[in-house]
Amino acid sequence: MTATAIVTGAASGIGLGTSRDLLGRGWTVHGLDLTEAALAKAAAGLADENFHTHACDIRSAEAVAATMADIGRAAGRVNALVACAGVLKLGKLADMSVEDYDMVFDVNTRGLWLSAREALPHLRAAAGAGELARIVFLSSVSALRPKIESGAYSASKAAVSQLTRILAVEVAGEGILVNAIAPGTVDTPMVNDQGGPNETGAWRPSGPSPVGRIAQPDDIARVVRFLLSEESAYITGTTIPVDGGTQAAFVPPR
Ligand SMILES: NC(=O)c1ccc[n+]([C@@H]2O[C@H](COP(=O)([O-])OP(=O)(O)OC[C@H]3O[C@@H](n4cnc5c(N)ncnc54)[C@H](O)[C@@H]3O)[C@@H](O)[C@H]2O)c1
Repeated sequence: MTATAIVTGAASGIGLGTSRDLLGRGWTVHGLDLTEAALAKAAAGLADENFHTHACDIRSAEAVAATMADIGRAAGRVNALVACAGVLKLGKLADMSVEDYDMVFDVNTRGLWLSAREALPHLRAAAGAGELARIVFLSSVSALRPKIESGAYSASKAAVSQLTRILAVEVAGEGILVNAIAPGTVDTPMVNDQGGPNETGAWRPSGPSPVGRIAQPDDIARVVRFLLSEESAYITGTTIPVDGGTQAAFVPPR
């Protein structure tokens, strides 16, 4: 039997790159995203019969529970949850709308927690059978070194890192490992759709990291791969920066 992963936000960016990487290594992937149309486009590009799609808005507790139950019935047990679904809304905290603030927390923090809560019974089944059982959350470098005009987003990602630490210890005795990745800027629609300098403010993408380039989704997928391998068997409760050194030291402007 092949290993099975659930990837949220699988239709785009890091979730899509992670799905491609796992499929290439023989995993079965259940990809969740907002719409059938986006998932169908992703599935066409992946062209792999082991990619199964589920339209699911992770803001809905009922939808997440029903989707995870469906996957549990189909797969028997689940070896990994990679929680990539997320949204970025920018704006000064003084001006941000309640709708935007709630959206950011509903997806990035509450939806991520719901995904983990509903996947856990199926991860427990894998751990109980002596198989790999792992959770990887997508936090952000903004949890570690926030940027102006991303207050709600940065706070939501700091919350993801705290959830990572606490859930990791709560399930450590069950053979389930929980870690987060904190990417710097990654070349995905989330960042690219923001355009250049925010017309209404000062937020802008960080640009090339100290290693001289912007990350590609595969830079993150490779670390997911490590966290879903035996090589990381003694790592849990951590947030691993994958940012080319962006948050390591301040670079003063010229
Ligand atoms: N791109 C970056 O620079 C960067 C940096 C740090 C962290 N991250 C994090 O990595 C993760 C993936 O980001 P990405 O860059 O691939 O973004 P993306 O926008 O390319 O992909 C995110 C996916 O999540 C889906 N999604 C959004 N809301 C959803 C919901 N309610 N239910 C289900 N799916 C939903 C979107 O439809 C989209 O397909 C996010 O959590 C993001 O915060 C990204």
